[in-house]
Amino acid sequence: MDERRNFIRLLGGGVVVAAGAAALATWWLNSDMPAAALEIWNGPGDEPDARKRAVAYAVTAPTAYNRQPWLVDLREPDAIVLYCDRERVQPETDPYGRQIIIGHGAFIELLVMALAQQGLQASVQLWPQGELSGEPRLWPHVPVARLRLAGGGVPDPLFAQVLRRRTPKQRFDLTRPVSADILQGLTSIASAGGMVNSAGTVDMARVQPLRKLCAAAARVELTTPGTAMENLQLLRVGPQEILAHRDGFSINDPALRIAVALGQFDRRAPASEDSLSFRRTLQLFEDQANTAMGFVWLSTRGNSRTEQIAAGRAYMRQQLRATDLGLGMHPMSQPLEEFAEMAPHRAAAHDMLLGSAFQGGAQGPTVQMICRLGYPMAPVPAAPRRALPGFMMA
Ligand SMILES: Cc1cc2nc3c(=O)[nH]c(=O)nc-3n(C[C@H](O)[C@H](O)[C@H](O)COP(=O)(O)O)c2cc1C
Repeated sequence: MDERRNFIRLLGGGVVVAAGAAALATWWLNSDMPAAALEIWNGPGDEPDARKRAVAYAVTAPTAYNRQPWLVDLREPDAIVLYCDRERVQPETDPYGRQIIIGHGAFIELLVMALAQQGLQASVQLWPQGELSGEPRLWPHVPVARLRLAGGGVPDPLFAQVLRRRTPKQRFDLTRPVSADILQGLTSIASAGGMVNSAGTVDMARVQPLRKLCAAAARVELTTPGTAMENLQLLRVGPQEILAHRDGFSINDPALRIAVALGQFDRRAPASEDSLSFRRTLQLFEDQANTAMGFVWLSTRGNSRTEQIAAGRAYMRQQLRATDLGLGMHPMSQPLEEFAEMAPHRAAAHDMLLGSAFQGGAQGPTVQMICRLGYPMAPVPAAPRRALPGFMMA
């Protein structure tokens, strides 16, 4: 009798374990992005505070590596003070902090738009305690911008695109060219402010060498140990890692997840050039570059922090406009990166796009963003964002 009971208990337990394992496997191999990591894309709901509502829209802004490097101080009434979260700098790929500051420009643009949508006008004072200078790791804790709020904000039609915007990372459709009219629609919007110049091409004779440049520059980023390691450390593989970080590159690929679970994915050293993961990553970058159906770029006369902010604001508007036009617009920043190994490609990019040499530092004409254009063949997934309290200064 006892034996029988034990047997039944064992059987029951086994079924439970088997059912549990099946549920676990289904959950584990499910390639959906965890819903909590995407909650920001539902909007701020019934949040009553206009400033917090605006911040909820602003954190959907694009940033290099989806780092979301913003800290917001709401302690002063009728003001929003923005700081850079210095723990989120990328010293290898972004040694001068140019890209991170562009991400602050994008944030400011969305913040201003979201406030205007609620009838509030923001006057933006950049660098109230002076510009950030020098190496990002050593930046002092000083504000990037202070926004003073008053009545009289006028809604911006582009605001309708904010929660629809996505950065497409997949191949574009090689059978669908981008028209010169659409390109014109993009470049005109970015040039409006004056400080940022925008240009582009959909002429294949010009597109081809730019495709090659982007693919070659991606290879340099992947084969330079410092930048390769920085990339590797921002990989978020599977739902647990994606949920824990909600930034970086989110990958839900089952093969990679199994490799991680089996301890076979080594993140202490860059992947060797003959490894599967290196070849897959390079292939991804090459597919992106080689399916570019056009390019659009933003440049400034110099490379001051204020110009970088202006470039970020222009980029934000341009990508919202692309969203409105149903066009994919995807930054390929590698040729513009300032680490030493990239110097020949950076020089080539400046020569090809501006017809001038890159001088470096805060001097001379600088390409701030280069993006490929085209039509994605499937819906573009939303990228994760961290929870709002993480952006608020205590
Ligand atoms: C300054 C800057 C540089 C970027 N460079 C790249 C890049 O080189 N490659 C890329 O795939 N995405 C690049 N992006 C796009 C981000 O990866 C993307 O915005 C981020 O992953 C969040 O996704 P989302 O824009 O769909 O919300 C860049 C964005 C910014 C603002």
